[in-house]
Order: sequence, then C-alpha cells, then structure tokens
Amino acid sequence: MARATWKSKFGFLMAAAGSAIGLGNIVFFPANAYKYGGGAFYIPYLIAMVFLGLPIIVMELGIGRIFAKGLPETMRKTAGFKGEMTGWFAILNSSVITMYYITILAWVLGMLFLTIGPLWQGVPVPEFGLTGSEGRGMTHFFDIITNYKTLLLVVTVWIINILAIWRGTKTIEKIVKVLVPTMWIMMFVIIFRGLTMEGGFEGLMLLFTPDLSILSQVDVWKGAFSQIFFTLSLGFGIMTTYASYLPKKSDVINDGISVTFMNCTFEMIAGIAIFTLLFVFSIAPKASSISMMFFIMPDGIAQFPDGTVIAFGILFFSLLFMAGITSSISLLETAIAAITDKFALKRSHALLIVFAIGTTGSIFFALPTVIDAKLAVDGTLGLTLLDILDHWAFSNGLLLAGLIETILIGWVFGAEKLRNILNETSSWHLGVWFDILIKYFIPIALIFILGSGLIKEFSGLYPNKPTGVHNLEYFALLFWLIFTIGGSFILAKMKGENHA
Ligand code: ALA
Repeated sequence: MARATWKSKFGFLMAAAGSAIGLGNIVFFPANAYKYGGGAFYIPYLIAMVFLGLPIIVMELGIGRIFAKGLPETMRKTAGFKGEMTGWFAILNSSVITMYYITILAWVLGMLFLTIGPLWQGVPVPEFGLTGSEGRGMTHFFDIITNYKTLLLVVTVWIINILAIWRGTKTIEKIVKVLVPTMWIMMFVIIFRGLTMEGGFEGLMLLFTPDLSILSQVDVWKGAFSQIFFTLSLGFGIMTTYASYLPKKSDVINDGISVTFMNCTFEMIAGIAIFTLLFVFSIAPKASSISMMFFIMPDGIAQFPDGTVIAFGILFFSLLFMAGITSSISLLETAIAAITDKFALKRSHALLIVFAIGTTGSIFFALPTVIDAKLAVDGTLGLTLLDILDHWAFSNGLLLAGLIETILIGWVFGAEKLRNILNETSSWHLGVWFDILIKYFIPIALIFILGSGLIKEFSGLYPNKPTGVHNLEYFALLFWLIFTIGGSFILAKMKGENHA
C-alpha cells in the first residue's frame, strides 16, 4: 500500500509543532526552570536548543524523509541490526512515556471537569488525612488519584487518541490545524493576563535576574538536555515518522528550524506566563511538575477577580489537554508506523493492539492504592510508579536513544552523506559544522551528561522514601531495562514483512 502523505506543508508543520508543544512546554519547562535557577535555566536551555536540538531535529526529520519509514525500519536501513534495535529501544522507551503521559492527561481531564465549580473549594481526602483546607488544587488532585473512577477517564483519553489517529495523517492533520493555532491564542491570553496584573512585570524581572552560579552544576545541564529532547519530541522516533509522510523533495532543514522556533518560543512564553502569575499571587512554586500543574496554578487562578475564575480555570486546563493530545497522538502514530512497517498487520489491528497494551500500562500509572498515607513521597502506587519510570524513561532513556542514534547516523550512515542529501533540496545549506556536531560534540556531551548523572543516581533517588518505595524503585528499573533493552532485541531479531 502507498505510504500516506501530508496534504499540505502547513498540515505537516502544525502536526510536528503540535507534537513538540505539549505538557513539556506549559508545565515541565517552568517547573525545571524553577528547580534549576529560574531565569538562569534559559542559558543552558538555549545552548542545548542550538547545539543539540537543532542538529538532531534536522537529522531525525532527514532520515525519515529519505527512507520514508518509521524509526526502526529507517535505522535498519542506515545501520543494520544494531540500528533497528536502537529504533525499537526508542519506540519502547517512548511507549512507557506515552502510557504515563496519557494518565496525566486523564487527571487533567478530571480537573477540567471540576473547573465549572467544585475545584474552587477544597475537598477532604481521608486517605491522606487531608481536611480540604490544604489548598484547592492539591486536595482535588489527591481526591482524583485515589479514586477508582479515574480509571474510566484513562480509558476515555485512550479512546480519544485512538479515534484521532484512526485514519492516520488525514485525521491528525485536521485536528492539529485547529488545535495548534488555538493553543497559541490561549497562551497569549494567559500571558497578557499575567503581565497586566499588578506585580506581573516584577515577576518577569525576577525571572530575568538569574542566579548564574547554577551553571557549574551537571544536574542543571542534564535538566536542560532532557528538556530539549522531550520538548522537541526527539529520541522518540516521532520526527522521523512524521517526516516519512513528506514528499521526497521537502526541505526538512527549513522545517526543522521552523518547528524548533515555534516550539521553543511557545515554551519560553509559557515560562514567562506561569512565572508572572505565580509571582502576582506570591506563590512559591514547588519544584515539581505535578504540583505546578495541579496544585499551584488552580490556587493562583482561584485568586483572580470573581467572574473570571471559572473562565481561566477552563482556559488553563483545556490548553493543557489540547497541548497534551496533539503530542500523545504523535507518540501513538510513531508506534503504529513502527509496527505496521515491520509486520504485515492491518492498521486497525495495530491500533487495537496498541490500545490494549497502552491502556493497561496507563491504568498501572493511575492505580489509586495508597502506599504512603503520610505523603512523604507520592502517595499512591500509580503516582510512585510514574515518578520512578519518568526518571528512567524521560531523564535517561530519551538521551540514551538520542546518543546511540546520533553515533550510528554520524559514523555508520555518515553525517556528511546526510548533509549532502539534505542540502540538495534546501534553500538553507548545512555546513561542515553539522558533521562536527553530529559526530563529535553531541555524542561527547551526551556521554558526559548521562555518565555523570548515572554515577550520582545510585546515591539514592528519594532521601525520605518510605519502606516499600525502595523495592519498587529496583523493580521499576528492572522492568524498564527488560522492557526496553530485552524488548528491542527481540523485536529487531524478528523477521519483518519486507526483510530479505
Ligand atoms: N514534546 C512533547 C511535550 O513537550 C512530548 O510534551
């Protein structure tokens, strides 16, 4: 069957930007910026964007356009068995992220429903001894994650995703053309609101009075590198898959620059918007994405003038939901393309398999069983698993996939060859610096960051962890290793539909 193609360049750009702009931009970026030195985080972030993000996005889009296949097949064509195994590693690692990403979206949907009323008053959560006076966002969030009914929301978000990608690029293109521009408008409304409130401008100034001393910490650089990978949807196979639906002569160098610009501008604006709002309401954000999204923003919005609270609550949570959906559909399309490219499976069958496995995984991350009633760490089994696996899949897995992919393409396929092919169809030419970045700079930087991070890793993830969580950490790490490394080995070994 002929491979699907995007109807228009605009449709492709909106799909790629929609994938990039997600929870990472609105929540993880401001939370990371807060954790790693406020405005100073913009420095390693921008360096990572120029020296890692841009070359890798061009590389991932480039190989997708050249081979017109999903990541594992493309990597097999560039570097044989080890290439295919790297491709499957990226797909399996990103499927772990997809599963908890969709669980988080289910919680966002739960909060969105509550914005029409209940969210603006606290709720008691006896499981954790919360009386309801601790904060509206916080108590409602814990009420949601300790409730079995939330599992229905998880299934609902999965069904929305599957329907959205049912007919591939056709449906995806229609959705992103509406949602991506809408998200920009919504973000402008939020930043306008933040900056025009009394004190908003001071918040902005505070953000740009950075503490530069943080730049000597390896953690800060690792945070910036992982953030760039996650936010630009790199190391997942997404960009390669989306570019595989492009016409042969497309200018992916320009496309890579446009997507990076759209995504990172949105992200930096989101950082400013969230910081100014939190400053206006004198709320010191806790350095966690979950608390920023679910506890702090609702508490901030609740202080808006009467009459605007519900509207802003709906605006914030629907923006999160839209941004999340345009990313999760790209994650799913990537897995579907990988499966259907390799095995002689009908698209509808691949969708049903992904739905069944994915929903089960997301339900694990939503398990409401209380394992830590004192809330020393995460409270429920689902949230604890999410936190631990996020640590491996997000902070380490994406960088590892990106590292091996870059080495194989740079050295086995050849950075120079890639550059020459892409330059032929581009108005903007890559220079020798591209080869130097792909072959030397990026691998060395990633090895250093991953290596030093891992050494620190084993000194303990959670200083205050309750008994039980510790064992869970080892269990989850073992699961992640077997699932990603063992799984990719088996999948790469299997004989595919078109293999000689
Ligand atoms: N790039 C997507 C995000 O930022 C995955 O959420």
